[in-house]
Amino acid sequence: MSESDKVVIEVEALSKSVASGDSALTILHDISFRVQRGESMAIVGASGSGKSTLLGLLAGLDEPSTGFVKLDGHNLANLNEDGRAALRGRLLGFVFQSFQLLPALTALENVMLPLELGAPERRATARTQATAMLERVGLGHRLNHYPKHLSGGEQQRVALARAFVVQPQILLADEPTGNLDAATGMQIIDLMFEMNAEQGATLILVTHDNGLANRCGRILRLASGHLLD
Ligand SMILES: Nc1ncnc2c1ncn2[C@@H]1O[C@H](COP(=O)(O)OP(=O)(O)O)[C@@H](O)[C@H]1O
Ligand SMILES: [Mg+2]
Repeated sequence: MSESDKVVIEVEALSKSVASGDSALTILHDISFRVQRGESMAIVGASGSGKSTLLGLLAGLDEPSTGFVKLDGHNLANLNEDGRAALRGRLLGFVFQSFQLLPALTALENVMLPLELGAPERRATARTQATAMLERVGLGHRLNHYPKHLSGGEQQRVALARAFVVQPQILLADEPTGNLDAATGMQIIDLMFEMNAEQGATLILVTHDNGLANRCGRILRLASGHLLD
């Protein structure tokens, strides 16, 4: 592999401004960094420092005001909405603070969904793969439960299973323990690092927990939308 092949995320001179009354509010200022394959990196900073905005830009869910993001060599600015969605489906897994499971689907159906939206060979084995992944996170006995009948920790395990079932190259997690008690949060984090090690994904973890950040290979600090070094 050449040096450039090792870079899976490239962020260059990224900024984000939004209209606020008569003036523009700048949420992120001139952010540049690179992440190599298999790295784990925490993004830390106070509430309102721009962490979620940065994650949304990395995922191509939002468009920057200046600069660019490249994922696996693809510049998101050169893709349209459909192209970005296809790239996300192929490369990315997400875990959110609020779990974001679909309430009308069972645990098993939630985990099958990204496989069913993917390539035909993934669709054919969706049920088997999703079942195996739910067993992996300790929920083999909860396959047919709906999210509202699962605890917060169980819902986040389903969300982890859904994120990892597609074997993403990059896992993005936005304060994944924010809605859980400390002990349950720790179990979720252990599980996330274990599955990440098994699959060799690149992990980008947003947190304001320093203990958690210190488990990552690298820490990126944001303050009022600026990258500190
Ligand atoms: N669409 C938007 N319009 C206006 N302000 C926004 C918008 N999105 C985020 N912000 C503001 O930008 C700042 C950073 O938000 P966010 O990225 O959610 O921070 P964090 O995740 O670090 O708590 C906050 O002050 C927030 O209120
Ligand atoms: Mg946030």
